Amino acid sequence: MATSASDRPERPGAQEWVPERLGKKTVAAGIDACRGCELYRDATHGVPGDGPLDAAVMLVGEQPGDQEDRQGKPFVGPAGRLLDRALEDAGVDPGIVFRTNAVKHFRWDPGRGGKRIHKGPSRVHVTACGPWLVAELDLVRPRGVVLLGAIAGAAVFGPSFRVGPARGHPLDWPDGGIGSSWTPSWAVATTHPSAVLRSRQRHEDYAALVADLEVAASLLSADS
Ligand code: URA
Ligand code: SF4
Repeated sequence: MATSASDRPERPGAQEWVPERLGKKTVAAGIDACRGCELYRDATHGVPGDGPLDAAVMLVGEQPGDQEDRQGKPFVGPAGRLLDRALEDAGVDPGIVFRTNAVKHFRWDPGRGGKRIHKGPSRVHVTACGPWLVAELDLVRPRGVVLLGAIAGAAVFGPSFRVGPARGHPLDWPDGGIGSSWTPSWAVATTHPSAVLRSRQRHEDYAALVADLEVAASLLSADS
């Protein structure tokens, strides 16, 4: 079947929905109203980042999951619970963490019995949604950023980013930045908590996640 222009999603990118005055409420409203790519269509809510505005560290995930989409909050489902436990085990005070995602709307495929099957965002969605991550960086101005998985890594370092070789040590913020006025002092990449949940070597992978978060914890205590 030939594809018509209307089958091709329009992706102007999020920039035109980013408010001039950045605040938690204006950003949240902008994200919920955003039509920067087609993902808003099948989602319940746009999910902004959450946490204190003076957070020392920003944690960047991939995209909201089923629970996050329903509740409009990041990391409130199973991956979020694992992440909270890992933060605690790594000695990172949850009160100094701002949690967000590279992509703000839930992308999914219909499954059996009305189930919504997570479908990771593509590069085009990460690019379209980038202005929201930039806006959140300028809103929160975190000292450091923890990148949870390849999609978060790609949002900051570009599509060729690989977690494996990069994980667990401080990375310099990319030269030239990503469009924010604010430049965090460091980034640390690690695996995504959902990958730990799915892993057959869950204990090892969980321990590696905690070890990477401990690197972030020591950077925080070093520059405080
Ligand atoms: N996975 C993510 O990357 N982000 C969430 O908010 C929840 C699950
Ligand atoms: Fe806008 Fe991002 Fe949602 Fe796409 S995924 S509509 S760019 S907020």
